Amino acid sequence: HGLARYTFVVEETPYTRLCSTKNILTVNGQFPGPTLSVQKGETIIVDVYNKADYNITIHWHGVNQPRNPWSDGPEFITQCPIRPGGKFTQKVIFTTEEGTLWWHAHSDWSRATVHGAIVIRPKEGSSYPFPKPDEEVPIILGEWWKAPIMEVYHQMLQTGADPNISDAYLINGQPGDCYACSKQDTFKLKVVKGKTYMLRLINVVMQELMFFSVANHSLTVVGSDASYTKPLTTDVITISPGQTIDVLLKADQEPNHYYMASHVYASGAGVLYDNTTTTAIVEYDGDYTPSSPPLMPSLPYYNDTAASYGFTSSLRSLASKEYPVDVPMEITNKFVYVISINSLPCPANETCQGPSGGKLAASVNNVSFVSPSIDILQAYYYQINGVFGNKLPSFPPYIFNFTGDNLPTYLNTPKVGTEVKVLKFNSTVELVFQGTNLLAGTEHPMHLHGYSFYVVGSGFGNYNPKKDPLNYNLVDPPLQNTIAVPKNGWTAIRFRADNPGVWFMHCHIERHLSWGMDTVFIVRNGKSRSSQMLPPPLDMPPC
Ligand code: C2O
Ligand code: CU
Repeated sequence: HGLARYTFVVEETPYTRLCSTKNILTVNGQFPGPTLSVQKGETIIVDVYNKADYNITIHWHGVNQPRNPWSDGPEFITQCPIRPGGKFTQKVIFTTEEGTLWWHAHSDWSRATVHGAIVIRPKEGSSYPFPKPDEEVPIILGEWWKAPIMEVYHQMLQTGADPNISDAYLINGQPGDCYACSKQDTFKLKVVKGKTYMLRLINVVMQELMFFSVANHSLTVVGSDASYTKPLTTDVITISPGQTIDVLLKADQEPNHYYMASHVYASGAGVLYDNTTTTAIVEYDGDYTPSSPPLMPSLPYYNDTAASYGFTSSLRSLASKEYPVDVPMEITNKFVYVISINSLPCPANETCQGPSGGKLAASVNNVSFVSPSIDILQAYYYQINGVFGNKLPSFPPYIFNFTGDNLPTYLNTPKVGTEVKVLKFNSTVELVFQGTNLLAGTEHPMHLHGYSFYVVGSGFGNYNPKKDPLNYNLVDPPLQNTIAVPKNGWTAIRFRADNPGVWFMHCHIERHLSWGMDTVFIVRNGKSRSSQMLPPPLDMPPC
């Protein structure tokens, strides 16, 4: 009845990149997948058909889906996967989101190729809080592996070590001409001098935060994670896996070819342009010979933590009359979640190549999450016992970045389990993510399903529960669904638990997710009908 309806067919499709052809999993044969374009507040229906040889689920990243966890998508959290030959009709309910989000597979590592943009336009009759750009274009930062992604995934699981990095990074599915035989596979943005372009940046990369820049042009950030921000003019963007950033690019230079480039931000020294750099061309209209050598932007070095954190911590929400903030001021639940990389012993009769012959693991409050065999939502709704526990341990906020030998070794080996945290409807939550330097200190882009949250504070080192709250930004904190917790540091977020359901929370670095840096919130129903979960659809994929 009037709802827009889309068909997603998940299938193997041959694609050629870096001079070799292989089958990749796509939606409707497209890589990146189709862009969904909706209006704020719209509800759409997507019929997902699985024509692949293995299980699949689809998630609408950043769409809050009020009362409707049934269509959220993470495998074994809110549904069992769609089996080969199966179909699932998902209802995607947009409410307050406006700007850019994305959809992706949420089963094993299929999201490497199964992903696409979601563009959410303002309501009819309303407009952007900035002058309307002349054109808008999604810019999807992605990756290409020569090997099948499932092979990369299984090799990581078997060895217990870090996965192989991809063979190329991509802009809108194309590696760009820094890579061998990719001259034809270079994305071009054609521009006309004087016009303004909105780039809807999406980082779909599996394992790394990315820097992004355009030669000779500054960028004005106007939104992130489908929420507007105060305009922020910058030369370089840092974007974490899962995050979206909307930027305005004014074509105000002399007609030429200007490169846009993106490369990984990761610990460890590197060089400026190497095989983790992808390029595209901003191509001005006109009669000219493009500069040679080409005009390249300068990107920060790989390990430039200050550049990465400097950008991430400078986003501010609009906090205007039209776009007010609604940060919870009275907090019912205060949690500290310690997020660590650790290791587990190698199982008997396996050989592992992880630290000290074990396998790499990751944890939240020293519990390494294991997927149950039927989904948590179903177990919760039908009261099936033995699928999950609600004993996620609490951690006191004390020293988690260790020096020398005060490293408490019990934290090196997490417990293994499926633990959730249960929240009362409409209670308020302040959650401090505390990173550690156990095994490897790195950024963790933490993502929460079912909610957007305010990022009220962050810093390096150990969170200080007495001092740090005094510096919280409760005036114009950005509203995000994914936030990079700084390396060996902490980030505080706040939200109101007003969306009943079962909601996954995890690091959006794919290996960390696979190693267990995941947990779940169950938000109870409220009293009134309109504060309760919707009934399950009849075609939930069977377990
Ligand atoms: Cu982008 Cu759990 O998702
Ligand atoms: Cu992580």
